[in-house]
Amino acid sequence: MQFVLIEPNIAENYAILRLNRPRELNALNLQLMQELRAGLQLLDADDNIRCIIITGNERAFAAGADIKQMQERTAIDMLKIDQFSTWDAIRKTKKPIIAAVSGFALGGGCELAMLCDMVIASETAMFGQPEIKLGVMPGAGGTQRLTRAVGKALAMEMVLTGRFIDANKAYQFGLINKIVPVEYYLQEAITLAKEIAQLSPLAIRLAKESVNKAFDATLNEGLEFERKNFYMLFASQDQKEGMAAFVEKRTAHFEGK
Ligand code: CAA
Repeated sequence: MQFVLIEPNIAENYAILRLNRPRELNALNLQLMQELRAGLQLLDADDNIRCIIITGNERAFAAGADIKQMQERTAIDMLKIDQFSTWDAIRKTKKPIIAAVSGFALGGGCELAMLCDMVIASETAMFGQPEIKLGVMPGAGGTQRLTRAVGKALAMEMVLTGRFIDANKAYQFGLINKIVPVEYYLQEAITLAKEIAQLSPLAIRLAKESVNKAFDATLNEGLEFERKNFYMLFASQDQKEGMAAFVEKRTAHFEGK
């Protein structure tokens, strides 16, 4: 791995994937995205890991797809390379993913943050979909996920002008979960990851699936999906343990069984 560093913490059951092209503001070239996909697949299959954090550095989470790599491409090149199949694979990650964002989260960087399940941002975070200024438009979900997250008016403004929004506005419009001083944004994401890692990984997995279902199902379909997942969890030892621990007034220990 050259452009993505994996920093697992087995004892605490979480791992950090760090985007690592700092000189290019973590521009998302094909290799980086493939490494990110491979890293996520590895962690998704590892029972020691229960929550994943994707981060960059203080200056940039990611400044978007690599413009220099795309500059000379034709439509047919883009079709053949099919870079977004990597994004589809990332979307299928079963474990929860937290984006820890500082600095620029632009274009594909903003789309990557939105692909994560929660976003912790530093006070310096800036979100934007500036593709329009390059004569193109968002291609990794920006028009869809941003609109669902912040509503039509702000999504239109961001997508049609390329204007950035700061962390406060992103919080105000529900794009992110929390803003913290820049020194703490990763620590805050780790605190959240550790909290999730102590819960039943089976319940977490099905709960994530169920929340995501709300974005592409009718209310009826979503409720049925939720109910089946809820019933299914009663087949787990974690359900017995969680409820017994409550009744016995002790801390539950979930083993993902
Ligand atoms: N692709 C390739 N290189 C990039 C890049 C990108 N998306 N963003 C920044 N870089 C490179 C710059 O070219 C520069 O490299 P050089 O020193 O070799 O010139 C280096 O990173 C540092 O960047 P700047 O000197 O520009 O830094 P700045 O502080 O002056 O500006 C910035 C920061 C406002 C983020 C500016 O770099 C910028 O506007 N970047 C592009 C943002 C963008 O348009 N993103 C959308 C990309 S398209 C996309 O993402 C499609 C999609 O939907 C998947």
